[in-house]
Amino acid sequence: MVRIALTKGRIENKAVEILEHANYNCAELHDKGRRLFFNIGNDVEVVLAKAPDVITYVEHGVCDIGIVGKDTIMENGKDFYEMLDLNFGKCRFALAAKKGTDFFEGYSHKIVASKYPRVTKEYFMSLGMDVEVVKIDGSVELAPLLGLSDAIVDIVETGSTLKENGLEVVRDIAPITARLIVNTASIKLKKAEIDEIIDRISAQIAREES
Ligand code: PRP
Repeated sequence: MVRIALTKGRIENKAVEILEHANYNCAELHDKGRRLFFNIGNDVEVVLAKAPDVITYVEHGVCDIGIVGKDTIMENGKDFYEMLDLNFGKCRFALAAKKGTDFFEGYSHKIVASKYPRVTKEYFMSLGMDVEVVKIDGSVELAPLLGLSDAIVDIVETGSTLKENGLEVVRDIAPITARLIVNTASIKLKKAEIDEIIDRISAQIAREES
C-alpha cells in the first residue's frame, strides 16, 4: 500500500482533479465529510493534512508521497526527495511594503514580518542585509499597516490582497508551484508502486500542458 499525504485547501482541489484524470477513484474525496483517510484504488490511500504536516509525515515515513507547495518545502524541510514539479498552484514569494515607501532606502533598522521566517532570513542573508524578522501566522498584510514592520515576505498569487490593502511588491523572491515529494526509504522499498503513481501523474500533467 502507498499512502499519499495531500495538502488541504487550494492544492487539494487541483490535485484531486489530476488524480481523477490519472484514473484513480476519487469518489470518497468528493464526498469527504469529516473523514481523513481515502481509498483511491490500486492499493493507494490519500490522507489530508496541513501543508507543514505533509512534510512531517513524509519525512517520518508514515506517508510515502506528499503533495505540497514549494513555499512549505523552502520553509520547512529537506529530508525527502522532491520528484516532480506539478506545475499548478503557481504563485511567488515576494517582498512587499506600503505603496510609495522605499524599503531599501537609508540604513535604519528594518523589521520584516512573515509566515515564512526561514525564507525571509535566507533572502536577506543573500542580500547581505541584517533585518529583524517577526513571525506572523496569517493575514501578514496587517503587520506593516499596523506599524509593526517595514515590509512583509509573503505569497503573491493574483496580487489582489496586496492591492486591496495599499501594499505593493518591492522585489520578487522565488517562484512557487506544487511539488510531489517522496520518503527516502519508500523510494527504494516501494519503487515499482511509486514509479507507477509518478508516471500516471506526470502523464496527466503533460496531457494538460499539451
Ligand atoms: C495567501 C497569502 C496572501 C494571499 C495572496 O494567504 O498569504 O494573503 O494568499 O493571494 P493573492 O495575491 O491572490 O491576493 P492565504 O489565503 O493562504 O491565507 P492566510 O492569509 O491566512 O495565510
